Formats: sequence, structure tokens, C-alpha cells
Amino acid sequence: MSDNLPTTAQPAAQPGRSPVRLRPEIADLPPYRQGKPAAPDAFKLSSNEVPFPPLDAVLSAITDTAANSHRYPDGAALALRTALAETNGVTPERIHIGAGSVALLSQFITATAGPGDEVVFAWRSFEAYPGLVTVAGATSVRVPNRPDGSHDLEAMAAAVTDRTRVVIVCTPNNPTGPVVERAAFLSFLRSVPSDVLVLLDEAYREFVTDDDAVNGIPLLDEHPNLVVLRTFSKAYGLAGLRVGWAIGHELVLDGARNAAIPLSSTAPAQQAAIAGLANAEDIRARVAVITARRDDLAAALREQGWFIPAAQGNFVWFGLGEQTAASNETFLAHGIVGRAFPGDGVRISIGEAESIEPLLAAAAEILAGLPADHPTREGVRSR
Ligand SMILES: Cc1ncc(COP(=O)(O)O)c(C=O)c1O
Repeated sequence: MSDNLPTTAQPAAQPGRSPVRLRPEIADLPPYRQGKPAAPDAFKLSSNEVPFPPLDAVLSAITDTAANSHRYPDGAALALRTALAETNGVTPERIHIGAGSVALLSQFITATAGPGDEVVFAWRSFEAYPGLVTVAGATSVRVPNRPDGSHDLEAMAAAVTDRTRVVIVCTPNNPTGPVVERAAFLSFLRSVPSDVLVLLDEAYREFVTDDDAVNGIPLLDEHPNLVVLRTFSKAYGLAGLRVGWAIGHELVLDGARNAAIPLSSTAPAQQAAIAGLANAEDIRARVAVITARRDDLAAALREQGWFIPAAQGNFVWFGLGEQTAASNETFLAHGIVGRAFPGDGVRISIGEAESIEPLLAAAAEILAGLPADHPTREGVRSR
């Protein structure tokens, strides 16, 4: 039978090209690059993970729940939302759970911006932002950071037009490290139209020690267009389980819920997050170890002669520019696997205590080879 069906011309598959027609802007996207897998004797400091394994209570929650894996998870994640709502003094309707905060970013962008719409964010910032905007069919508007690696909020406000649907503010900024200060953020919020969504990405909030830094949650009641994103991946050490949460106006969150893939947050992930919240004191103790190590490392690097932007996440930034690729090789030779952004810089996460010595040795070697007027030397860069 089928031999008699009319046939259409079959173009030969071309190497490197999809055999089916993809949206051109999707085909052109660079694949999301994960932190490099590290050699067994190297330190993997490329993904801003914490070096600690899950707490015992968290592991028990995961294994207990795993025994029920033949059942679907609670798609509404009500128990976790209730726990987060209690901690933050809101009703559970004002909390939304996603499979990592990157899933939430995608949902909020998709819910608000499509073809012809613009999404404003600082650059360089979290590398997933441009791709998520493209997938939504919208257009990215990147506003360069200031020379010290902080957001230029005035320029970001000025970049808002009647096509803007979302502004993403990342504090502390990944990969450069500085926070957005509370006063500056408040005047920024006042200058953005009240129907434009402001996404405050606080993935690293638990590591912040700067008292002037913004904390988005207390600002939500006054600013219904503000949504704050948090994650269990970083301070809570659950990167592999994929749990993030959003807090904001119930109806704005409903938009994201409508744009979500149903049932993508798993039961072990939800229960692990609940166990993490129940053991927040232990988490805070671990975070304190990391922030002390971060501050000591940044001080030692500045002592060597580096300009290191204010490091308020669990990472430090080397703005190496054209020297990025060569410097990254030196880090690797010392067993330090950071994240290199070609032409821009290298971000190194705060990891095991034993990683600090080889990291400092590599940094000293790199600095010795940099030109005297390189902007990542202390004192050269204009602030
Ligand atoms: C600024 C920022 N936002 C969001 C995320 C996403 O984290 P997750 O999806 O693991 O919650 C990351 C991860 O590195 C990040 O750096």
C-alpha cells in the first residue's frame, strides 16, 4: 500500500543541522554550559555549589519519599508552600514552587513577554537569562554593569520602554558578586511603571553580609509588581534536587503557575526542602563557614594586588578580559576548576578549605603575568 503513496522530495540530512525545521532563533542559541566536570583530584568550583553533602535529616527525607516514587508528587507543593509561607509571614497562595529558580524565571518571562516585548537585565549576569528570553520569543535588552561589577540601576530604569514587560535584577550578581543596595533598589522600583514585572533574583541571598543590601521580601506589600526568587540549590545545598521558590502577588504568581510544566517539582525534592527549612540553624552554620572563607579569600587576593568586586555570593570574580582563557588554564593546572566566560572573566566558587591554597597560588602566578595596567589589578580600574 504505502508504496503507492505520493512521495515528496527528501532533502539529504546535513551534518550539524537539525533534520526538522526549528525556530531559527532557537537553533542559533548556544547550549547552556554547565560547570566543567572536575578531574578526581581537582576542586570543582564552577557551579556555585556548596561543598557540603546534604544534612542527615534531609537525606532521610529524600529516602523516605523515594519509596513512594510510583506516586505522582503534589503538583501544588502545598506542604512546602505552607512551610515557606509560615517562615515568611504570608499565605501559601503567595508562594510558588518550581524545579529550580531557573524554571521559575522561565515561567515568569513566558507569562509576561512574547514577540515584540522586551526583557531588561544587567550584563554580565546569570547566563541563563538571554536564552530564556529568546525561548519566550521576546527580546533581551542588556545593560552593562558598572566597572565595579555592580548593576547600573539608573541605566536599567532608562532602558525601560513601553515594550518592556520584565526587568530582572540579580543581587548579589552572578558572576561579579556585588549586591544591589536597598535605597537604590527602592528608587529604581519607583521609576519603573507599576505594570512592569520586576524579578528580583536573590539566588545567593543567604550569603549576603552587607547590611545595606536589599532584601526583597519586606518590599512586596508596597510593590505588587515585584516578585522575589529564591532557591534551595545554593545555601541549602540541594542543587541536584531542583527546588526554587517565588514569593509575590498571588495573581502574578498565578501567571507563572499557568506557564509551568505541570508536576515538575518532585516529591523527594519537596520533602528535602521542608527538612532543610526545619534545620535552618544547621544551614546557617554552614553558610557562616562559607562567608568567612569567602571574606578571607577576597582579602588575601586583594593583598596580592587584585581588584576583586564586592563578593557577596559564594564566589569571587576575576575580571580578566582578554586574559581569561590563558588564566583559566593556569587555574586548571593548579587543580582549580572555575567558570570561564571568554573575553570577560573567571568566576570561582567558595569550596573546600583545601582549595584555598592552590587557588591563591594560581592567582599569584596569573597576576605576575598580567600587564601593569590591567584593569583587574587593584588601583587601575576606575570605579
Ligand atoms: C543568579 C541565579 N539565579 C538562578 C539560578 C538558578 O538556580 P536553580 O535553578 O538551581 O535554583 C542560578 C544558578 O546558578 C543563579 O546563579
